[in-house]
Amino acid sequence: MSKLIKKIYIETYGCQMNFSDSEIVGSILQKAGHEIVLSEKEADIIFVNTCSIRDNAEQRVFKRLREFRSLRKKNNAIKLGVLGCMAERLKEALTEQNIAVDLVAGPDSYRSLPDMLYQVETGVKTVNVLLSEEETYEEIDPVRLGSNGVSAFISIMRGCENFCAYCVVPYTRGKERSRNPETIVNEAKNLFEKGYREITLLGQNVNSYAWNESENNVNFSRLIELVAQISPLLRIRFATSHPKDLSNDLLEIICKYPNICRSIHLPVQSGSNTVLERMKRKYTREWYKDRITAIKTYIPDCSISTDIIAGFCGETEEEHQDTLDLMKWVGYEYAFMFKYSEREGTFASKKYLDDILDDIKSKRLEEIIQLQQTLSKQSNQKDIGKIFEVLIEGISKRSEDQQFGRTSQNKVVVFNSNNQPVGSYVNVKIISCTPATLKGEIIH
Ligand code: 5AD
Ligand code: SF4
Repeated sequence: MSKLIKKIYIETYGCQMNFSDSEIVGSILQKAGHEIVLSEKEADIIFVNTCSIRDNAEQRVFKRLREFRSLRKKNNAIKLGVLGCMAERLKEALTEQNIAVDLVAGPDSYRSLPDMLYQVETGVKTVNVLLSEEETYEEIDPVRLGSNGVSAFISIMRGCENFCAYCVVPYTRGKERSRNPETIVNEAKNLFEKGYREITLLGQNVNSYAWNESENNVNFSRLIELVAQISPLLRIRFATSHPKDLSNDLLEIICKYPNICRSIHLPVQSGSNTVLERMKRKYTREWYKDRITAIKTYIPDCSISTDIIAGFCGETEEEHQDTLDLMKWVGYEYAFMFKYSEREGTFASKKYLDDILDDIKSKRLEEIIQLQQTLSKQSNQKDIGKIFEVLIEGISKRSEDQQFGRTSQNKVVVFNSNNQPVGSYVNVKIISCTPATLKGEIIH
């Protein structure tokens, strides 16, 4: 077979996990001799790495696929592929009439992409959506696409077996499996040597990370400790934690290492016990509050963020008020907030009615967003006058004279530059704030 070299553009939608996957795909394709390009205009193959979590995420991808189709009408040498969760959910349907893509690859089949490309070249449409119980892409060193050279993601596990009633992920990403810790630590070391200063360990439920091999048992607390020991100059973040598995053991490790960031993302979804039960979240409001108290006791300067769903099946006004009440009790620094979107195949779609009118979902979501704005602003105001260590990430969009970076609490800080390079640390005193950003000046 003669060598096939293609220019490939990968566009990514959805979560951090998907961005990390695109970097794995990029690496597999580069190793096979292809070139990764950063614009669709240069490409002869366009891959869209997709998200199925809510209907609007899928609609956005469909719109983009239609745009790419018209590009292909002008130049029929261009091939179009769908990767990720929509590939897994919709399978062959994506190669048919309406969308008519040339290649469909689910989250566990990226190693077969080079072979699939050969097939596509011969005019054959190709689909591989087999899910695996082992694949973790463990030895693949991802290419860093669109990176700032400072922050990078490392995927530590794949899949999810929690089966929350609303969620499609266990169906699109398959069984939970953990990656060999040695390969994770090596990837982190390599990144540090290349100048990266912040890594985020990624998984659907990082607290249930488990590597059991003869005498080498590593849980998440141990893994994060191993990564934190690489260098005090390397910041470690992690996402996402499930409240049912957040252990005091982990909180103790965070306390012990100042380079593990003081920022925990703990999705609550709802503040109502009856909704949490319908959602099959496996914890109660009281359990969740106990975990928040533990975080605040062990790590008083920790920021806490969350995910919230408005208008889940059967949600009453009282249950919605319970969510607002819990938000105030926690005082979240930040939240990702969504309207419930029914996903085919999930427990909720089979057993419950999606009976909250869209107007009511919107109204409740708006109330949640408004409250979060107030909470974020209050939290930022409390930072005025304090000094934070900030990792510099780049030049501010507003002014060439200003740089920006993040605190350990994951808050963005803008400050007048003294031309220190990206990737270095500066101490910044906070002078003022908006709900989204802190402003400060460097302290010498
Ligand atoms: N509808 C709305 N939001 C959802 N999420 C997951 N599934 C759904 C759904 N069907 C949200 C949850 C999760 C985040 C990644 O997306 O809040 O934590
Ligand atoms: Fe990521 Fe979930 Fe979307 Fe899949 S469905 S891309 S796992 S957010």
